[in-house]
Amino acid sequence: LPRPTSPFGFEGIDPVPAGTDEVVVPKGFQWAPIIAWGDPILPGAPAFDFNSQTSAAQAGQFGYNCDYVGVIPTNRNGKEAVLVANNEYTNNELMFAGYAGASSLTDDQVRITMMAHGMSVVEMRRRDKHSRWTYRKAAPLNRRITAVTPFDIVGPVRGSELVRTSADPRGIRALGTFGNCAGGTTPWDTVLSGEENFNGYFTQPASAGSDRAGQALTRYGLASGSTAQHAWDRVEPRFDLTREPQEANRFGWIIEVDPLDPTSTPKKLTALGRMKHEGANVIISDSGHVVAYMGDDERYDYMYKFVSAKRYRKGDRRHNATLLHEGDLYVATFDGEADGTHDGQGRWVPLTQGGRSAVPGFTHEEVLVYTRLAADAVGATKMDRPEDVEPNLVTGKIYAALTNNSRRTAAEVDGPNPRPSNKHGQVLEITERRGDHTGTRFAWRLVLVCGDPQDPQTYFLGYDKSEVSPISCPDNLAFDGDGNLWISTDGNALGHCDGMYLYPLEGRGAGHLQQLLSVPAYSECCGPLVQWDDRVVFAAVQHPGEDTGASTTNVLSTFPYQGNTQPRPAVIMVWPKNRGKGPQHGEGHG
Ligand code: FEO
Ligand code: CA
Ligand code: CA
Ligand code: CA
Repeated sequence: LPRPTSPFGFEGIDPVPAGTDEVVVPKGFQWAPIIAWGDPILPGAPAFDFNSQTSAAQAGQFGYNCDYVGVIPTNRNGKEAVLVANNEYTNNELMFAGYAGASSLTDDQVRITMMAHGMSVVEMRRRDKHSRWTYRKAAPLNRRITAVTPFDIVGPVRGSELVRTSADPRGIRALGTFGNCAGGTTPWDTVLSGEENFNGYFTQPASAGSDRAGQALTRYGLASGSTAQHAWDRVEPRFDLTREPQEANRFGWIIEVDPLDPTSTPKKLTALGRMKHEGANVIISDSGHVVAYMGDDERYDYMYKFVSAKRYRKGDRRHNATLLHEGDLYVATFDGEADGTHDGQGRWVPLTQGGRSAVPGFTHEEVLVYTRLAADAVGATKMDRPEDVEPNLVTGKIYAALTNNSRRTAAEVDGPNPRPSNKHGQVLEITERRGDHTGTRFAWRLVLVCGDPQDPQTYFLGYDKSEVSPISCPDNLAFDGDGNLWISTDGNALGHCDGMYLYPLEGRGAGHLQQLLSVPAYSECCGPLVQWDDRVVFAAVQHPGEDTGASTTNVLSTFPYQGNTQPRPAVIMVWPKNRGKGPQHGEGHG
């Protein structure tokens, strides 16, 4: 008998063994790359040439290791849109022949890595809603944001002594963004992106003082004595903290980019706190306040929300673009009992309120720059690596991917983090009390405890476990137009390739996890983004071919194929082959 199909109208694929260098989609579906590392975006940018890459070329080409994917329509005809993708980091061993550590890079190769980070903004077109999206070279909105692009520091920390440097003595303008992981698109069509693992980009002091600044260096992984991982300090001394100690305070923020205005200066949003920001996703509360939900992706770190001081005004883009400049920041606490049930109550504890610090002993600026220390001080709940945290706009509930935590001990398990040595992760749901996103009380439950379904510790909302797909290490989340959850994974610990999964949360199919996509050898599946009405799914294939010992001569992936001899991270789309004439969502036959 065929397995039941999802509302999306597909029969889930079987898990694909780790190391398989293929993109696998369900029967009746197809996939295609839209844009890959090195594809030219800006006017004059040359075609990608693996053997003679330059920093000048890379500055006009699609960046490396795409993660967040946003698609914003630019025309009501449904045939034009702008794609925004984060370019989180680089795999130098896969980019440069003979790579032997950062010291082996030429100065221009160092600059190539700087230009391959950041974000890529590129216009796309399609013939009709059943056809392939293709990107448009040199289109008016196309843009590259890199490790050197100027950003305005906005919000309470603008001008603070804590973010002043010798190059920016007023503390108002930072250069570049990197480590950009997940993100979100706002109702006013800007894109938010999290600066995540920013610490490794700096040459660090070997130890730090015991004052608050020193405690923060240690807490943020900035006092290890290590050298900048891509030797950026060789071409820009600001990446050496022993010479420019406050430069790192200008990273670890949520940034906001307006992809509809290529001349706009992107912003660092200091009111949302500084951490290893995975991303931010917003919802508008009944009162009109904008609420951003966020995770700090480190073992034992926290979940946060921000509530804007001002209210959203429909259609007033200029006003709405200031909403994330000012508001209150909260951190989550969950009731802690490891009582075997997967639900409980929780509270948002204020860190800032009404433009002031809510944490005794911390100034307002200290709470925002040293947010982890402030959250430690109020006793926030230590989570299993919060990745994407995102509201479901259909139901108003919030979902968090807690990806794994190998270090959690049996003595440290609690309700929302119920397993020691957590290899596979879980997905947490938050229901704000009375549906009020500005409030401080919530109920929580786990909706998915990941792993092999035969493992009795796993949980799939009570669905028949013989029918569900195995899943491990949930990372990025998205929702479709019916409020179903989509999950993409990073770091499958079950011996399978990573992929993308549909997870209905309500109704008869609730808990019926099905895999839509399996991504190439040693890649992580990012995005995802679902264009529900058109049954198009976007995904970012990040770090294909990344594994111990991999290099430009030990090639483990040639994704996206088509004559490539080396792996190239790319944004792909998955969509039905039958021009939408086959099983539509809701029909449910395979
Ligand atoms: Fe870049 Fe938390 O993953
Ligand atoms: Ca991630
Ligand atoms: Ca997401
Ligand atoms: Ca991850």
